[in-house]
Amino acid sequence: MELTRLIRQFQPETARRIQPRPYINHSVEFKGLFTAEERARVLDDVGLNVFYFPSEMITGCDLLSDSGTTTMTNDQWAALHQGDEAYGSNRGYFRLREVIRETFGEEYFSDAPGLAPNAFLFHQGRACEDALFSALGRLGSGLVIPSNGHFDTTQANIEGNRIAAVNLFSPELQNPASDGRFKGNMDTKRLRALLETSGGRVPVVYLTITNNTGGGQPVSLANVREVSEIAHGYGLPLMLDACRFAENAWFIKQYESGQQNRAIIDIVREVFSHADGFTISFKKDGIVNMGGGLFFRQGGLFLKQYPHLADEITNHQITKEGHPTYGGLSGRDIMALAVGLGIAVKDAYLAWRIQQIERFGRFMQEQGLPILTPTGGHAVYLDMNRFFAGTRIRPEDFGGISITALLLAGYGHRGCELGHFAFGSYDPATGKEAFPEVNFVRLAVPRLRYEDADLASVAESLRLLYDERDRIPGVEVTFGKELALRHFKARFRFKESAVGCS
Ligand code: F0G
Repeated sequence: MELTRLIRQFQPETARRIQPRPYINHSVEFKGLFTAEERARVLDDVGLNVFYFPSEMITGCDLLSDSGTTTMTNDQWAALHQGDEAYGSNRGYFRLREVIRETFGEEYFSDAPGLAPNAFLFHQGRACEDALFSALGRLGSGLVIPSNGHFDTTQANIEGNRIAAVNLFSPELQNPASDGRFKGNMDTKRLRALLETSGGRVPVVYLTITNNTGGGQPVSLANVREVSEIAHGYGLPLMLDACRFAENAWFIKQYESGQQNRAIIDIVREVFSHADGFTISFKKDGIVNMGGGLFFRQGGLFLKQYPHLADEITNHQITKEGHPTYGGLSGRDIMALAVGLGIAVKDAYLAWRIQQIERFGRFMQEQGLPILTPTGGHAVYLDMNRFFAGTRIRPEDFGGISITALLLAGYGHRGCELGHFAFGSYDPATGKEAFPEVNFVRLAVPRLRYEDADLASVAESLRLLYDERDRIPGVEVTFGKELALRHFKARFRFKESAVGCS
């Protein structure tokens, strides 16, 4: 009997429950070994701010961010060696131009003389935001930019240019009972209401895919279409914050009706066809350690409404970053990015990536931990309100900071508070804190870096803390509570002696 016929009878692909990774380790790095006491001493010295904790002392998983923390593939390392460090029009620029066109659509990268420049490379996402919002800020006063959820640096760059940043989260995001697959959507009712009353003050509408501030939750194609129609109805351009565009497309393919048989790349191109431009940090779905870009659709509403801004942004880029043909990037970074974008939209890569986050979420649920469900694309979000429900922790105790400190010192895993402290603010005039709608500790999973056992160990460590939640003290802020972007800079100390040491 032919093996090809025999194998059909076993149906090996569908019968298997445990899938192997679609990649192998290319090279590995051994970690340093440190004790809980050693980590605690150092974390105390840096005022419990996990950003200042030396990464070389992390004996567990570093889940502070999925940004720039990717493991690159051997093809990318090979591409680095081919980097061309010419001052103008290096080899990588032309490769990247092709890949951007193939991925997002031809009209997002046209550098023919006579057309408005529409593709701007920057060293990372926030530099693109700076270029865009400083240009928009000069359009007038009292402006407002609505989004389904602005990221922290996006919000800071908007507000830094005296524009108000408004988040129109989906009501489903706040409902733990909902199993909606697209909790990252924009609340279009609130968008219509805002545009009805203040449309004249809105220069652009923003959609973040996936919605990082909103639990890493995806945005449906239907929502992209609807937001685009509403914005265009008011003559307003739609901009995407597209850092995790490939992960978002995977959710659309998987869960949105009628999308199952489409190629990821076709979904990506349709999403971008509804937009007029986008900012992107390539440190996420670009699968690289550095890079960003700002792109406008040739023929789109942004360049129609603001034709003079393309040249202003080019001037900004040349004075702050570099010539338009390399922006803020070295030639070798551009080469690695051109390869990375190709990997990001591959089915085998994406399925593994998202399913690993799903499994991480399941490990957490098996340990009884309250997480945002369904899990999103790049992280598991631990719900601090439910974690501390029924304990003495009040919002002003910043329990999320306590958890990140104890998880790092006690178990060697680094997560990030994205909740009452990171997104809250302190008003020195009233002495009062204003708390945001969302209150999470985020465990962001770097791409191609960790195995399931690593993540299961994070879940188990958090369960041990959850068991002790009644004894976990809050923190007081010893420095920086009144500062903008305070979570990057502030220092803390525990309000009373730590767990079990009283
Ligand atoms: N927009 C979103 C949605 C982001 O998640 C980030 C970065 C940025 C913009 C800014 O890009 O870092 O290249 O300047 N997010 C990282 C994170 C830092 O950990 O979520 P950047």
